[in-house]
Amino acid sequence: MQEDTPFADADGLANNDVRSLKKGADAKRTLAVAPMLDWTDRHYRYMARLISKHTWLYSEMVNANAVVHGDSKGLLMFNPQEQPLALQLGGSEPAILARAAKIAAGYGYDEINLNCGCPSPRVQKGAFGACLMREVELVAQCLNAMQEAVAIPVTIKHRIGLDKETAYQPLADFVGTLREQTACRIFIVHARNAWLAGLSPKDNRDIPPLRYDYVYRLKQEFPDLQIILNGGVTSNTEIKQHLQYVDGVMVGREAYHNPMLMQHWDALFFGDQHQAIDHEEVVSGLVEYVQHELQHSDVSLQHMARHYLGLMHGLVGARNWRRMLSDASLLKNNNAKLIQDAWQFIKNQSVNRSEAI
Ligand SMILES: Cc1cc2nc3c(=O)[nH]c(=O)nc-3n(C[C@H](O)[C@H](O)[C@H](O)COP(=O)(O)O)c2cc1C
Repeated sequence: MQEDTPFADADGLANNDVRSLKKGADAKRTLAVAPMLDWTDRHYRYMARLISKHTWLYSEMVNANAVVHGDSKGLLMFNPQEQPLALQLGGSEPAILARAAKIAAGYGYDEINLNCGCPSPRVQKGAFGACLMREVELVAQCLNAMQEAVAIPVTIKHRIGLDKETAYQPLADFVGTLREQTACRIFIVHARNAWLAGLSPKDNRDIPPLRYDYVYRLKQEFPDLQIILNGGVTSNTEIKQHLQYVDGVMVGREAYHNPMLMQHWDALFFGDQHQAIDHEEVVSGLVEYVQHELQHSDVSLQHMARHYLGLMHGLVGARNWRRMLSDASLLKNNNAKLIQDAWQFIKNQSVNRSEAI
């Protein structure tokens, strides 16, 4: 049924527990899916969890002020099956972040992460995100206030630098200061600078050059820290390579557009040899989930189905799957059977194709 062999790059990895490459490191975050606004909501995360039991998942960034002053339940509620799950907070006021972290911990999150990597102008206006990298003392205060408020780990996600700064030392100083002044020991490093002026958030994920060597060097110089590398990773081969130098890899866009990339992660990277889930089983898990959500919440099929468009990536008929699950006239019935029908369509196409050969 496969058009190409998306897992061909896993060859040679199958019986190799990559965790052994970094002995002694806490292996829980060996692989993570990145926080992505509008993308990694609870419906995407449920699908990701069907595919991989162990991958560490992150929420979209949630504004700490909104948690404290707004509808915290709507912002924080999740399905326990999504765990292990981290909440990412955006903010720069230690007291507000601490209150938000405490509220979130009450919902059962496994980690609270502080966003110091987002370059969007809206976020800069609120003086948080990547521009916080200029204010390491404030970041330390934020992390300390959050950690004092909760018993779960407080972590940070940041860039390797700002604007056109290309030296390594400011990055090492940033991480070194936080290591000295806080209890934070888990650093997720997006291996690109954030250019705060002149680039859209989207371009800021593609244009500033990737410097993986800077992230590797951080691990060398701060061996007691957990360093998780992020940025531009799209295959299991790349993941394996990075894991020779860092404790974990966080994958963003590829895990969204091609979620079955995660199909063999439990076996390859977490040493869990349970049978990998196949497309059929993911579809059946999703249908059950969507039916339940349609009955018990006011979410629409369209809202959930948009996250499932990439599920058939690489299969014959993937285009029809996407077409059916984004057709407003089909979605408006809010019937989970549409997902089954779209899958059946792919299976029929595949049978017809093999009969024709
Ligand atoms: C649609 C979208 C939304 C994002 N939202 C966030 C966010 O809320 N918080 C954050 O720290 N990074 C966010 N990012 C950046 C990702 O977490 C990640 O750092 C970036 O995409 C690079 O990883 P990748 O090359 O594997 O995608 C977002 C990325 C995308 C594509």
